[in-house]
Amino acid sequence: MKQAADPQAFSVYLKEGTQTIHDELDQRVMQLNPFADKAHYQGFLRMQLRLHTAGEQVYHNQQINNLMPEIEQRSRLYAVLQDCVDLAIPVELQQHDQQVGKLFKIADPYAGLGWLYTIEGSTLGAAMLLKHVKNSLGLSEAYGARHMAAHSDGRATHWREFKAILDSLTLNDLQRKQALDAAKQAFYFVTETVDEIMVIGKKEVAG
Ligand code: HEM
Repeated sequence: MKQAADPQAFSVYLKEGTQTIHDELDQRVMQLNPFADKAHYQGFLRMQLRLHTAGEQVYHNQQINNLMPEIEQRSRLYAVLQDCVDLAIPVELQQHDQQVGKLFKIADPYAGLGWLYTIEGSTLGAAMLLKHVKNSLGLSEAYGARHMAAHSDGRATHWREFKAILDSLTLNDLQRKQALDAAKQAFYFVTETVDEIMVIGKKEVAG
């Protein structure tokens, strides 16, 4: 029998607080046919590059690493960058996307937890997205879709472990709220990015 999730659990609080934005984002991305062809998928990858660049500072934050000792190894920024190279995204666009991502400053560790939740959670949806990428574009975890690869322990196990750490933290209401606001901020950042760079036909401006 499946155990019911603890409604007070931090991970449940984050999931419930971001569910609406996630649903909207998910629909918006799929409406834009991200896997229709190489050009569409390039836009999707650039969105991932901005997200992972913005979140990268959290993976190296000392306070976060004290709470989650292996988090540094979970960063997927390098894999996203390799995917960008595989798909021949021009270097100047990659640099521009990294500049945009780096504009975010996430110094507060509770905000960092929220960003981590959003970025780590996106590995779950990636299972489904990877199937589309394989079927439509012939890419794989070894080429072009490296950032969608499952963790060696398996996606579900990895996510369960991550949530268990989140749920073991002792946080007050304000700290939980700071994390939720940051998780939402990460989703909003992606939503804006999707509208800016995934709508094919819009004029591209680098730098
Ligand atoms: C078209 C794009 C997307 C689709 C179709 C999608 C789909 C999904 C699905 C099906 C799940 C649940 C998987 C499961 O429970 O086994 C999920 C979870 C999640 N996704 Fe997405 N996703 C998309 C994009 C994103 C993006 C861009 C982000 C981050 C900005 C994101 C963040 C999350 C998070 C945080 C969870 C975990 C929710 C939880 O707490 O259980 N997703 N996604």
